[in-house]
Amino acid sequence: MSSHLSSSLLYKNHLVPAGFHSPSPSNRHFSRQITCLEMSCSSQTPFPTLKTVTISYTELKNKRADLSLKIEEGFGPSGLGILSITDVPGFPSLRRNLLRLSPRLASLPEEVKKELEDPHSRYNFGWSHGKEKLESGKPDLLKGSFYANPILDRPTTEASLIQRYPSYCGSNIWPDSALPELEVAFKALGKLIFDVGLILAYHCDRYVSKGVNMHEDEGLEKILLRSRCHKGRLLYYFPAQESNCTQDGDSISSWCGWHTDHASLTGLTCGMFMKDGVELPCPGSAAGLYIKTRTDQIVKAVFGEDDIAYQIGETTEILSRGYLCATPHCVQAPKGQKASGIDRSTFALFMQPDWDESLNFPEEVHIHKELISSSGALTFGEYTEKLLDKYYHSKT
Ligand SMILES: [Fe+2]
Repeated sequence: MSSHLSSSLLYKNHLVPAGFHSPSPSNRHFSRQITCLEMSCSSQTPFPTLKTVTISYTELKNKRADLSLKIEEGFGPSGLGILSITDVPGFPSLRRNLLRLSPRLASLPEEVKKELEDPHSRYNFGWSHGKEKLESGKPDLLKGSFYANPILDRPTTEASLIQRYPSYCGSNIWPDSALPELEVAFKALGKLIFDVGLILAYHCDRYVSKGVNMHEDEGLEKILLRSRCHKGRLLYYFPAQESNCTQDGDSISSWCGWHTDHASLTGLTCGMFMKDGVELPCPGSAAGLYIKTRTDQIVKAVFGEDDIAYQIGETTEILSRGYLCATPHCVQAPKGQKASGIDRSTFALFMQPDWDESLNFPEEVHIHKELISSSGALTFGEYTEKLLDKYYHSKT
């Protein structure tokens, strides 16, 4: 199995068919959102633009507050699989601190970046560029990524585990002398998104527990709290060349292909655009995150620059018996003359169960049925191996 496949599956899963219909609380919220925002959609995108459901940090941190309605609206079967948290203290400056380092990392000399690569983890730690494939099958040279675990530098010292699960159990690689600020900024932002994500997970568990009888230890919050393999990804989208500007925009997935997140919960920052190191507003209103709903409608999802957005991954969808839902999504690059020379930086935190976490899959599952129902209890590490096997028919 080649390196890009592992990253693609773990962090940009392109493999999952969209559009299953899970047992649902209701679909009233989604139809309402589409109707009321349709009229305001930009002339540059033929798709409706929707604001994500938001929860303020003050509401979120009140553990006695019942946020079930908002959780259902954002993450439930009729939601977009995304919601955002506003007014998180310290977040805007931590976001800026890290995203401003992204072009500096990408412009380090090639030999320095080579030192930051980790082929053994299939480029799931350190620097990765051109190791994944675009939907066309060509190597993805549009963006560079830097992966690290912001919580633990070395999740295990056990050689057999590192060999078996290199993308989870490997160690961080930091550019200690070339860009020493990166480690501090990456860990600070990653830890904040993780901490806020844990509180959100607590409220998700409360919502799910209304419909599903679940032991406290099996909830999303506890699974994430126990895990040693969360992964941050700093993404740098190289500036478009003038010559590409008119031809690259045909597809709405021009920057990042259609995929559904594989793990539990993904924390996301709003992208930052820069030209020669100076921050700029987004150069085109069609650029950004697109989501496919369960009724196969495509919508552009927007959230505030200072908000942290969270998306549900497939593993959570399965474990929550469909009460929390993952949606396929992609990213469109800005088009045209105005986009020329402008880069984009963003950060995602993939929160996922520990490789050793025994997953209590329900008897009836609607995705990856054949992997789960025949296997009894699986750990998250084993489940990921089966997914890789299923799609690539080979093991390394
Ligand atoms: Fe994603």
